[in-house]
Amino acid sequence: MSAPFQVAVLLSGRGSNLRSLIDNRYDFTIRAVLSNKADAGGLAIAAAAGIEVQTFPRASFASVAEQKTAIFDRVAKLDVDLIVLAGFMLIVPPEVAEHEAGRIVNIHPALLPAFPGIDTHARALASNSAEHGCTVHYLDSGVDTGPIIAQAAVSCRGDDDEHTLAARVLVREHQIYPWVVNGIARGEISLAGRIVTLSSSLRSDAAQRGFRLPASVAA
Ligand code: GRF
Repeated sequence: MSAPFQVAVLLSGRGSNLRSLIDNRYDFTIRAVLSNKADAGGLAIAAAAGIEVQTFPRASFASVAEQKTAIFDRVAKLDVDLIVLAGFMLIVPPEVAEHEAGRIVNIHPALLPAFPGIDTHARALASNSAEHGCTVHYLDSGVDTGPIIAQAAVSCRGDDDEHTLAARVLVREHQIYPWVVNGIARGEISLAGRIVTLSSSLRSDAAQRGFRLPASVAA
């Protein structure tokens, strides 16, 4: 039997995506959860699941740059197959993103390239978007600019506020992120340059689940 596909999850907050990854980790194992926040809710979720937790609070470092260096040095030592950003609120240093190209994924709560950055739900409503959603993408050296793997959309409603909209998007986040990570672990999703490729069975499964794939992967 081949060695299990191992991921490290990096987070800063409540960890609902971590919980979904834990509950749906069919083809991968979670080697460790790392956080830049000692009080992140996700740490208790990891610990309850028996997953190793490592924290890197800002106060322990002279600068954010040193904090990031410590985090990514530790990630490198873990030697995992994939780094999974799940609500990790520090910008990954560009040199790390470049070195780990194809081995870091992120989930972003918007239909990229619309609404990169923060406050995505409020911005989607303020611009009267008919739909909103989430995107799983490989990381590149920009912010929310990496090659898109899959997206899930929800309709915006007239009575939505940012909380109701965020809640509906989050339901889809919890479905799409494990789907992608399991797919990468099975070798059914890969990156060459900026081109993402999915197996034909995953492409048809995506259609069944209502996940959108960028044109480059459906070719
Ligand atoms: C999610 O909305 C994710 O898309 C964004 O940060 C949030 C993290 O939520 N990157 P949680 O900590 O997984 O609950």
